[in-house]
Amino acid sequence: MSDAKRLAGEKAIEYVRDGMIVGVGTGSTVAYFIDALATIKHRIRGAVSSSEQSSGLLRAHGIEVLELNDAGPLSLYVDGADECDPHKRLIKGGGAALTREKIIAEASEQFVCIVDPAKQVDVLGRFPLPVEVIPMARSLVARRIVSITGGQPVWRQDVDERGVVTDNGNAILDIHGLSIVDPVAMEAALNQIPGVVSVGLFARRGADVVIVGGSPPRVL
Ligand code: 5RP
Repeated sequence: MSDAKRLAGEKAIEYVRDGMIVGVGTGSTVAYFIDALATIKHRIRGAVSSSEQSSGLLRAHGIEVLELNDAGPLSLYVDGADECDPHKRLIKGGGAALTREKIIAEASEQFVCIVDPAKQVDVLGRFPLPVEVIPMARSLVARRIVSITGGQPVWRQDVDERGVVTDNGNAILDIHGLSIVDPVAMEAALNQIPGVVSVGLFARRGADVVIVGGSPPRVL
């Protein structure tokens, strides 16, 4: 598995052009991409990062981390996913970074998604769908999720059984028991609930390219 992730991360370097500010996602697959990016860091202007975790990795490699507000539109965003369907629509947010990931994906001309083969599914939903919520709206949003989707929202906990707090200071609900036949409609419906910050469905703006790690990697 980690070999597949590494091979996907390394392949994504082919999409980096000289002088770019690169959008960088979050997770174990992206960590391999960051390792590879470090080998060509003299060729890029820096990175915009989707999480404190990735910012730490980038800085440790001597790659400058820029604010999206200063960087402007990006040419390239590279990130992993928890699930990917044949239409390059994704579930993301297993690392609780979905909101910043969605912002950077929206700001980027090309979204290259790097996955291991286990992430490929025909229908999204086996992986619990993350939703970032404003803390005071958590119970309200959970009730609305049940009525809209029929799924079971679960408040994500950390290893100490405390509610996970995102980099934005919010909570995460993971929706279990879904089979998402219309991801664009579900993304739109969940986005409408007051208190929802963002939904880990990347359907309206999915990936442009998916790299599935292996020997050799497959580019979809
Ligand atoms: C973080 C994410 C990650 O991209 C997703 O969880 C995949 O992680 P990994 O590469 O570790 O399997 O969406 O919020």
